[in-house]
Amino acid sequence: MKLICLVFLWFVPVALAAEPVEKLYATHCASCHGADRLGGAGPALLPENLERLRRPEAIKTIAEGRVASQMAGFAEKLSKEDIEALTGLIYTALPQVPVWGEKEISASHIRVAGAMSDKPIFKADPLNLFVVVELGDHHATILDGDKFEPITRFQTRFALHGGPKFSPDGRYVYFASRDGWISKFDIYNLKIVAEIRAGINSRNLAVSGDGKTILVGNYLPHTLVLLKADDLSLIKIIEAVGQNGKSSRISAVYQAEPRGSFIAALKDVKEVWEIPYAVQKSNWQQSFDPASVDMVVREKTFPVRRISVDDYLDDFFFDQTYQHLISTARDSKKGHVLDLDTGKKVADLDLPGMPHLGSGITWNYQGHPVMATPNTKEGLVTVIDMQTWQTIKQIQTPGPGFFMRSHENTPYAWTDGFATGNPLSRDTMTLIDKNTLEVAHILRPEPGKTAAHVEFTRDGKYVLVSIWEMDGALVIYDAQTLKEVKRIPMCKPSGKYNVYNKITRSAGTSH
Ligand code: HEC
Repeated sequence: MKLICLVFLWFVPVALAAEPVEKLYATHCASCHGADRLGGAGPALLPENLERLRRPEAIKTIAEGRVASQMAGFAEKLSKEDIEALTGLIYTALPQVPVWGEKEISASHIRVAGAMSDKPIFKADPLNLFVVVELGDHHATILDGDKFEPITRFQTRFALHGGPKFSPDGRYVYFASRDGWISKFDIYNLKIVAEIRAGINSRNLAVSGDGKTILVGNYLPHTLVLLKADDLSLIKIIEAVGQNGKSSRISAVYQAEPRGSFIAALKDVKEVWEIPYAVQKSNWQQSFDPASVDMVVREKTFPVRRISVDDYLDDFFFDQTYQHLISTARDSKKGHVLDLDTGKKVADLDLPGMPHLGSGITWNYQGHPVMATPNTKEGLVTVIDMQTWQTIKQIQTPGPGFFMRSHENTPYAWTDGFATGNPLSRDTMTLIDKNTLEVAHILRPEPGKTAAHVEFTRDGKYVLVSIWEMDGALVIYDAQTLKEVKRIPMCKPSGKYNVYNKITRSAGTSH
């Protein structure tokens, strides 16, 4: 409430002044970046969040947009002068940035009382359910993965981001919205059981491997927020401040179950943080060479291990053991491989274009673990040997892709071609044979309509593809015969997440 009031107070004088640039902003930008620039579907646009983006790049972003995102270019709608004025505006500080600390977070906490059943209140395999996020109207559907029938559909918070995350037993699913709300949904009882607003503009959340702790990474304020998984109450806030004293947005947070720790990537300082959630389990202090650690913030709970890196980290991938963190910076031609045990870079990767590591997957090819990543600028899938870190193959696809998925029980890796909205490729699904690294099939689930994001059933026998449109659908294929089995109408279904594949960290899915 307090935030809304503050927002209102700032906005009124701005609107009364009726400065052309404020009007431009309100007309073209506010719907995504927030009336107050605190973020919405798009990130907060404040000087403290734009330090890495130099003005010429900001101008270019506004004029040309960003691939594979909702940020469209405005070169045709706005003059050069307008774009420059808007750039000036977004680098202007707000008179006051709202505080979102302990008091505000705890005051937002909502707990839903009532008796809950310890068993699912519906008949379906609870491990073969899908959570389908329907971005079009901010809903989620729980889908029976055997019958392909919706069990329930409910409203989510605004613009979910980063994919929902499950508790280790698959009973609960946690959602993070871009405006900072964390919601805990009890799948057995088909009910939201707790919510809390952990930030003003958030990136994503991670659930610890022991299921006890949630970590949220924020863009605004520059914080990491630890919550009790049980009822989402606040444990503590960690300020994201680099060793150089600079504060930073959080790019993303992950849980590294085999290490007993969370990993947090900082966006504005060249550091990765490892935060153990179970020191005793992970032998955290022994698992790395102490000499490689720049500084350990020694605290009883949730100490932070800082690891310095050569470049900013914008996009990531982990190997199955979580020993290696593979990353790229937005504007770099190279990827880096960091050994999390030693804290040292072990390899550079040859990754032209703009790979989307976040949806990379792994499999075994000729006895070696390989990783594959789509590319949001070029129609290429890069396959890298994870022992030598050499590129084995660049596979041509019809157009730039965003997501990639496979399953242990299927011969194909599936990828889309919608990253740049290219009309020739955005309706395609390309199937790559994992044994030959050749394109085996190209499917068009609905010609002319965007096809994106694939998920497999628990047994890998069926594939669910999204028709990513307001009047979209899930198209379900037999993964072997590639015959369509069913089509379920949905409202811009973005991601879908199979409980079993996620909680077992299937190599065919990003984590
Ligand atoms: C339909 C939603 C939408 C609209 C409208 C929109 N943006 Fe964006 N904008 C985004 C998203 C989403 C991103 C993040 C893109 C990415 O993934 O990098 C973004 C990114 C940006 C960035 C880069 C921020 C950074 O930290 O790198 C700038 C600058 C920006 N937008 C300015 C504007 C301006 C100015 C306007 C109005 C003329 C505008 N945007 C309109 C959604 C939108």
